[in-house]
Amino acid sequence: MSDILTHLFLSPEAERYIEEHSTAEPELLVKLRRETHLKSHMPQMLSGPVQGRLLSMISHMLKPQQILEIGTFTGYSAICLAEGLDNNGILHTIEINPEWIEIAASYFSAAGLDAKVKQHPGAAKEIIPLLPGPFDLVFLDADKDHYSLYFDLIFDKLRPGGWILADNTLWYGRVLMPDADKDRETAGIMEFNRKMKNHPDVDCLLLPHRDGLSLIRKKSR
Ligand SMILES: C[S@@+](CC[C@H](N)C(=O)[O-])C[C@H]1O[C@@H](n2cnc3c(N)ncnc32)[C@H](O)[C@@H]1O
Repeated sequence: MSDILTHLFLSPEAERYIEEHSTAEPELLVKLRRETHLKSHMPQMLSGPVQGRLLSMISHMLKPQQILEIGTFTGYSAICLAEGLDNNGILHTIEINPEWIEIAASYFSAAGLDAKVKQHPGAAKEIIPLLPGPFDLVFLDADKDHYSLYFDLIFDKLRPGGWILADNTLWYGRVLMPDADKDRETAGIMEFNRKMKNHPDVDCLLLPHRDGLSLIRKKSR
């Protein structure tokens, strides 16, 4: 592993200590994580126990009325985010792959979230324009080369003072590598990060959590 990556990620011991000293992952999410590992060749796409608890905490802090998630996968992060919804709140989640949509639907039912989670099958760039908003919280976690486009499509639907959480904004450290913008996904993340830094209407903090989680706040004027 290059020196850059060694310094980016926590040791397995530190990861374990953090997990052992944080609120335990709910049983249903343990089951979902196991099923995802059995059925997907990319189970690492799932948020996981610590990030899941972080998403739940943030959602509890904000008590959102409407959440938009871009990239449902098997539904793990949606269930975590839904934990903090306001009483009558709704979470909209977009996913392009029918295989994941079906698994996610069964876990939303098992979590008692049928009335609170609305699944939108299809390509995010086609679905976002159809959703009315306003959103209090957006979790951006789909194809990395389109983060900047998704931001543009979301921005007017995000209420002033609303939040975007953008996952993977260090993209496994690839943003730090020489020739980083030679691959499409890394270039997409780098474009998005520059845009957040320079955008006059947002505040942005790129947290060194896992492979980067950006907290972005739309300024209220
Ligand atoms: C990293 S995974 C999401 C993980 C999930 N948020 C979690 O933490 O458990 C990204 C998901 O985005 C989906 N996706 C990729 N491109 C998409 C697109 N253009 N529109 C909608 N979903 C897309 C993928 O099929 C994949 O399930």
